[in-house]
Amino acid sequence: MKDNFYITTPIYYPSAKPHMGHAYSSIVADFFARLKRIQGHKVFFLTGTDEHGQKIQRAAEKFNKDPLKFCDEISKTFRNLSSLLNLSNDDFIRTTEKRHASAVTNLWNILEKKEEIYLSKYSGWYSVSDEAFYNEDEIEDLEGKKISKSSGSPVEWVEEESYFFKLSKWQEPLLKFYSENPKFILPESRKNEVISFVKSGLKDLSVSRKSFSWGIKVPSNKDHVIYVWLDALTNYLSAINYPKETEKLYKDFWPANIHIIGKDILRFHAVYWPAFLLAADIKPPQRVYGHGWILSGDEKMSKSKGNILDPIEIIDIYGLDALRYYLLKEVSFGNDGNISKEKLESCINSDLANNYGNLCQRVILFCEKNLGLKIPEYNFTKEDLKILNDFKENIENIEKQINDQNINYYVDYVVNQLFKANKYFNDQAPWTKKDDSLRLNTIVFVSLELIRKISILLYPIIPNTSLKVLNIFSMEEKDIKFDTISNNEYLKDKKEIIKLGILFEKIKK
Ligand code: ME8
Ligand code: MG
Repeated sequence: MKDNFYITTPIYYPSAKPHMGHAYSSIVADFFARLKRIQGHKVFFLTGTDEHGQKIQRAAEKFNKDPLKFCDEISKTFRNLSSLLNLSNDDFIRTTEKRHASAVTNLWNILEKKEEIYLSKYSGWYSVSDEAFYNEDEIEDLEGKKISKSSGSPVEWVEEESYFFKLSKWQEPLLKFYSENPKFILPESRKNEVISFVKSGLKDLSVSRKSFSWGIKVPSNKDHVIYVWLDALTNYLSAINYPKETEKLYKDFWPANIHIIGKDILRFHAVYWPAFLLAADIKPPQRVYGHGWILSGDEKMSKSKGNILDPIEIIDIYGLDALRYYLLKEVSFGNDGNISKEKLESCINSDLANNYGNLCQRVILFCEKNLGLKIPEYNFTKEDLKILNDFKENIENIEKQINDQNINYYVDYVVNQLFKANKYFNDQAPWTKKDDSLRLNTIVFVSLELIRKISILLYPIIPNTSLKVLNIFSMEEKDIKFDTISNNEYLKDKKEIIKLGILFEKIKK
């Protein structure tokens, strides 16, 4: 039996509708979830919305709405986006659900009982937009206004009674944890940022607020609501039935294998979260991957900047798989990346239409005209075996790269196989072999096997299109198994293929 695999996206703030950045994190997580499933792992893939705190309360007030009603509406747009993106998530959690509140209060009670939490007074800077406290040295002046250096969002002065988590106490244990788990934070460059932040000294963390009410109450003192990040991070536990630790879901899936997040929320996931968990005697997750920004021009795409490329509109024009393919291939995972309609169009033309689409069209059309769509007999030559065996020879390496979240290695491998397959069909020129039917047949068989293998590799990237192609071999989703890319004769027992329509229309420029 293979290990279980638990993967999460951030839970997004339903303060405004989802945008391309949210779509990106979710597509990336879906890529890994689908890949792990076809590798034979039992997978739990979680996404959802983060609905408490001052940011949401204020957003609701702005529209004169009750916060829960407000969240109901916008959370729905995130849920709809999940299906539009064809996410294979197993659950969608909302932090306003009952199951979540009981997990948060349970965690709070443990921390309080272990004397990891104490009552005092907070005075300092707070950004409602980031739901984050900032030190004086993390603040700068912009046109007379105080903003956070890292996010650029405005901060306000807060002074109120507050519970504190003894974060300072966890400085050394955290550093030890990072060194014992060198791949806990990826990519490497971000890990170094986190470690130097922790080394520079951790102050105790304010974990409750008294000046507003939209949140989960501190169980022992109802004047306070629990800090929204302590609340939000716990979603990763509540969705798998924590605190019922004896139940299957929790036993099967905790600790999570990986939290996929953007670099903006690395500190919460890589410092606060493992500290809370260590303090509560719960195992921290195995990995936190902080990816880069999707940029619009040179700027981060964000609700507050208003420079948003709407994923729904893009999908409407170009189709979902084109968008998924673009984001996974053209963004160097871990770094910032750019998306524009022009770049997306070239990518559709060169890779999807000319490379993958073309391979499928030519081979299948040839098979139809010359073999009546029958899967032919074959007798592999050395050359045939060379191109077919490449997959088997690389499978271990691909798996290794993927376990380090090297998405680009994976996609590049697939693209390269597409080029090679097209070249094979060209060079072998089966249309010149009409008087050597065994050779003609073999070339078609090999080409069909290549299409099958490549389509399996493409499944986590462009699941709809991959399935459409695999359907010609009468394969369904359940038949998609990663290790069958090593098999050169999978199609041997199939009799014929089904015709295939055009996969990607070329975009005229
Ligand atoms: O921070 N490029 O929610 P949020 C890439 N609720 N990714 C982007 C992006 C961009 N331009 N903009 C947003 C929160 N993201 C908290 C999270 S988790 C327990 C709580 C993605 O709605 C990226 O994953 O502000 C980022 O970390 C996340 O959306 C922030 O979403
Ligand atoms: Mg944000």
